[in-house]
Amino acid sequence: PRVKIAAGNWKMNGLGASTAELDAMIAGATGSAEVVICPPATLLASFAARAAETGVKIGAQDCHPAASGAHTGDISAEMIGDAGGSHVIVGHSERRADHAEDDATVRAKAEAAWRAGLVAIICVGETESQRDAGDTLGIVGRQLRGSVPAGATAANTVIAYEPVWAIGTGRTPTLAEIAEVHDFMRADLANRFGTEAADGIRLLYGGSVKPGNAAEIFAVSNVDGGLVGGASLKASDFLPIIAAAS
Ligand code: 13P
Repeated sequence: PRVKIAAGNWKMNGLGASTAELDAMIAGATGSAEVVICPPATLLASFAARAAETGVKIGAQDCHPAASGAHTGDISAEMIGDAGGSHVIVGHSERRADHAEDDATVRAKAEAAWRAGLVAIICVGETESQRDAGDTLGIVGRQLRGSVPAGATAANTVIAYEPVWAIGTGRTPTLAEIAEVHDFMRADLANRFGTEAADGIRLLYGGSVKPGNAAEIFAVSNVDGGLVGGASLKASDFLPIIAAAS
């Protein structure tokens, strides 16, 4: 049985004062779920120090493919590990859109994460027009095959299905639509990596996960938890979501 994950993506939110929310999450996250909080890079080291020796893991939101070099403003997977992070999100749709990241770039970033000993949380998901055109499984399949490197295992990879139109909108697919995509992803991974590896890789759903819908979403076939944006910023929202994954 796969241990469910409640992962929080803080995006470009959080200042030093937000440490109080982290502390409340650490204190309240007592269930069986694996909890990963991905603050902005400015808070990575302080959050990792605070979460050390607790059940909460800390991750980053992006990394550069290279270990070091002349890449102003970027951070490497090695730096994330050095700061105490254990996970890194790669290929989030906001990175794909705002920074023109394609599947090959995302794949290189996932390989960088592995090189540094981090778990890569690799994101895929269709836009609204792609769903309306009936292309959802085609797009998700292409992104999976292009973004997930050869060598993915349950230990080094988590995959997040995040329909772009569900992010920050309060809209979600139906439970049947979520099941369709997650079942498809599991089968696609099994084709590539074999049943045993594919069965261990956690598949998260992301996009408008809230305390009120988390339990029903996490109960869907092949959904192994959530990647949560807005509702991960406050302990009062995120703790019930963590509980729903436990
Ligand atoms: P929201 O939970 O705010 O919709 O964001 C989802 C997301 O993009 C997480 O990576």
